[in-house]
Amino acid sequence: MSERLRGKTALVTGGSSGNGRAIARRFAEEGANVTVADVREDPRMGGEPTHELVEREGGAAQFVECDVSSIADLRAAVDTTVEAYGSLDVMVNNAGVERQLALEEVTEEDYEWLMEINLKGVYFGSQAAVEVMCEQAEGGSIVNMSSIAGIRGLANSSLYCTSKGGVTNLTRQLAVEHGPAGVRVNALNPGFIETAMTMEDGETAGGILDQTPLGRAGQPEEVAEAALYLASDESSFVTGHNLVIDGGFTA
Ligand SMILES: NC(=O)c1ccc[n+]([C@@H]2O[C@H](COP(=O)([O-])OP(=O)(O)OC[C@H]3O[C@@H](n4cnc5c(N)ncnc54)[C@H](O)[C@@H]3O)[C@@H](O)[C@H]2O)c1
Repeated sequence: MSERLRGKTALVTGGSSGNGRAIARRFAEEGANVTVADVREDPRMGGEPTHELVEREGGAAQFVECDVSSIADLRAAVDTTVEAYGSLDVMVNNAGVERQLALEEVTEEDYEWLMEINLKGVYFGSQAAVEVMCEQAEGGSIVNMSSIAGIRGLANSSLYCTSKGGVTNLTRQLAVEHGPAGVRVNALNPGFIETAMTMEDGETAGGILDQTPLGRAGQPEEVAEAALYLASDESSFVTGHNLVIDGGFTA
């Protein structure tokens, strides 16, 4: 059995559902100890909690309640991870939300809600992770969840695109700042993926599927494979990169 993350510890925010759930599960399959940090334990699309699924499949995982818009919660999740497993090698800043509105409809409350989760959560999640990783001889790998919305515009998504554009360039900046300490920082830019965000939140695909050369939606497991590459030593000379997983939508 291949164990591409053997001996490593990973923290996945938003790991109860969708992309984060698939990432946590895939990492555990490759030998990582995984902390699932989320505001809810039950997956949005049903099924058993991620940490229970991982343990049933023979992996090691724990759940930590964490709202990524709270710096204190993020720090507590990192501390709990280090206490339980002895290190923090991979931080996946995945938790995110979307609210599709025309620019003219957006309120200050909408703006603050979305930015606090999508941008502040990634910013301070990275800060908390870097503080631990910079002290480790082996450094670490941070994987931030951006989107195709981080590299181009999408209809009625000014809030989401602003937040994901921030994640895209924050990723590059952090790679520059922390490369010397052995911390690699990369981002994922998925296209339309079948999760609760796209299937249940009433968000429209805005023609994305029609313009996707592979002609279908992506699956969270396909995002998880890309996350695994960036988390593992196979990407040891890759940092500051935004990896697109979109079936060719932005090609
Ligand atoms: N689904 C897509 O098409 C798609 C495409 C590109 C990027 N993404 C990004 O992938 C990430 C995961 O989205 P998803 O599609 O799996 O959505 P999802 O709604 O299925 O899962 C998101 C998870 O994040 C959790 N979460 C929400 N707010 C949180 C908070 N404040 N603190 C901690 N956890 C919180 C939710 O409880 C949920 O478990 C997001 O950053 C999203 O923007 C999704």
